[in-house]
Amino acid sequence: MSLLELDGVKVHFPIKKGVLVDRTVGHVYAVDGVSLKVEAGETYGLVGESGCGKTTLGRSVLRLVDITEGSVVLDGTDLAKLPGEEMRRFRRRLQMVFQDPLGSLNPRQNIESILSEGMIAHGIGKDQEERREKIKAILDKVGLPSNALARYPHEFSGGQRQRIGIARALVLEPDVIICDEPVSALDVSVQAQVINLLEELQEELGLTYLVIAHDLAVVRHISDTIGVMYLGSLVEEAPSDALYAEPKHPYTKALMSAVPVPDPEVEDKRERILLTGDLPSPANPPTGCRFHTRCPWAQAERCSTERPQLRDVGGGHRVACHYAEDIASGKLSLKQGEIVSATREGVEDNPETDTPAEDAPAKVPAQAEKPAKDAPVAEADKASDADKASEAEKPAQVEKPADGDKASEAEKPAKAEKVTKADEAV
Ligand SMILES: Nc1ncnc2c1ncn2[C@@H]1O[C@H](COP(=O)(O)OP(=O)(O)OP(=O)(O)O)[C@@H](O)[C@H]1O
Ligand code: SF4
Ligand SMILES: [Mg+2]
Repeated sequence: MSLLELDGVKVHFPIKKGVLVDRTVGHVYAVDGVSLKVEAGETYGLVGESGCGKTTLGRSVLRLVDITEGSVVLDGTDLAKLPGEEMRRFRRRLQMVFQDPLGSLNPRQNIESILSEGMIAHGIGKDQEERREKIKAILDKVGLPSNALARYPHEFSGGQRQRIGIARALVLEPDVIICDEPVSALDVSVQAQVINLLEELQEELGLTYLVIAHDLAVVRHISDTIGVMYLGSLVEEAPSDALYAEPKHPYTKALMSAVPVPDPEVEDKRERILLTGDLPSPANPPTGCRFHTRCPWAQAERCSTERPQLRDVGGGHRVACHYAEDIASGKLSLKQGEIVSATREGVEDNPETDTPAEDAPAKVPAQAEKPAKDAPVAEADKASDADKASEAEKPAQVEKPADGDKASEAEKPAKAEKVTKADEAV
């Protein structure tokens, strides 16, 4: 049995209306039937564009939101059915690291107080002296100096604050840590350091992670298995390498086709699948396959009426698409949307000339400089004592394309903008 198993988890938020009496006039189907397994000591990466239900799913595991249906089994115990007091004890074993490290740390408490709080609540350490020793040891593990104890959150850089968030989870000796967008608020160079730290801690402490991100590059770096979410459900799940080698669901294919490849020869031949339209509202999801309103391979009738189940299609892949095999073999051709050469996206809006418009760069390079799986980022995180106190001032040890990123955002070709939020998921 896996350490953490979700089976058919649904979280539907009621939409209330009314002046005197609240009436339920509908539901937001934020999570709508997710089943997944997280093995002990491994990392499950969950990706998907904004609003697809990732955070709600993470919160449902901790029972921070009510589970409408389904089970969340940790180490053999169904958390969805646990009474409040027992759930509180189980919560120690499941900790969360949040996206916004500053927002999740009380600015009026010093670090010792922040880290002691959970320990006291869960009866860890016989007195403050013992707790302080443990906190010092954990601060050292996450690369912060012990004099951080008496300091306040605003005295730290973003990366250091995320280290404090990780330390706050670690002092409770959890089995599973749910990291919700753990690096998306950080500079690119610091992102690599925090990801490496998570990996090192996993190796040392045997931790199990559920890492939520909208950035495929972030989860690729640390995940054993990746699940791709669309509108409340998983559409594809596979071992990380298999997913990147051959994405099988049309939505995953579109996301991956937007990621530039470092090899210039491959990059020149890269084709981009363009999706049209926004993510539909989870309060009014499409019938049948939820992706059919944007799917370039959608087939009349079946795709709009029959909801595909996540099924095994071999090679460790589970895919929720009626036509995964036909799409892979090329038997099914594109019905709507289009494939364009990624290097010629900028040309599309300027058909009269055969040369790219000056302000339309050939690529959408936002992720190009993100740390690849084997990028030599490990050294960047070997925080020496000097580093520990001054991460904010440290020169970036990994190429930091922040300015380039901004420039490229500004220069994104009009065509790419039409791809809208699907881009955010990469
Ligand atoms: N408490 C709530 N009440 C009603 N609707 C909610 C609530 N929490 C989330 N939602 C809705 O559920 C859907 C999923 O939200 P969620 O925050 O889980 O998405 P997400 O994938 O984490 O997005 P992001 O990448 O922007 O963080 C959204 O439409 C959101 O508005
Ligand atoms: S089931 Fe149909 S609409 Fe859904 S992903 Fe597959 S081809 Fe596209
Ligand atoms: Mg979220």
